[in-house]
Amino acid sequence: MSRSSLEKLESIDQGVKRGWEMTHFEEQQEQSKWETDKPQPALIDLEKSGAIRGEVLDIGCCSGENALYLASQGYSVTGIDSSPTLIARALLKASKRNLKVKFLLFDSLKIEILGMTFDTVIDCGLFHSFPRETRPQYLDSLHQVLRPGGIYHVLCSSEDDLGNEGLKQTTKDELEQYFQKGWEITNISRIMLETREQENWDWGLLASILRLT
Ligand SMILES: C[S@@+](CC[C@H](N)C(=O)[O-])C[C@H]1O[C@@H](n2cnc3c(N)ncnc32)[C@H](O)[C@@H]1O
Repeated sequence: MSRSSLEKLESIDQGVKRGWEMTHFEEQQEQSKWETDKPQPALIDLEKSGAIRGEVLDIGCCSGENALYLASQGYSVTGIDSSPTLIARALLKASKRNLKVKFLLFDSLKIEILGMTFDTVIDCGLFHSFPRETRPQYLDSLHQVLRPGGIYHVLCSSEDDLGNEGLKQTTKDELEQYFQKGWEITNISRIMLETREQENWDWGLLASILRLT
């Protein structure tokens, strides 16, 4: 990356830190707690178990920690997010760490317009943030960018834990209802989702879902 592009990204990043260019999403305090500056521990476990394969797309990549972690492990990774400030921050991190990730400003409800397909899609915290009526559109777009036999790993907050003070935005039953025709759920497990405040971990779900032909 050229020196002037790097300086431009530095200045956007500084602007974001000073709150000059907050997007609607970032302004929502309960959402910005997601930017932990570390990969999610559940994603690290997933990678170590061999569940990530081929070309990877990280949807709702935020400032890129999960995508950068996978790139550091040798994967070819694309990360998309709808926030220009977060994509700028992700590009800056990639440049500083000398890691190659294709970070793109893109709407995850129209991912097929990318014209690319992937073997693995990861989604840490995006699916559950869509209103229920929007989720079928997201699934449709997702289905088109996953190659047949490809796998979608989704980490989401869950209503299944009654004592949880967190976001409580989906359930195991609901996941099973959404992912029926054209999909096969191979695993759903209970995991911890790390948030910015260390003590504020949320119980959540990790689902691994195959795209059938
Ligand atoms: C909960 S955060 C994700 C955190 C990140 N995956 C992680 O694990 O650190 C959700 C992300 O989705 C992005 N997002 C929200 N709506 C989106 C959309 N329609 N298209 C793409 N990204 C979107 C937000 O900007 C935000 O970065």
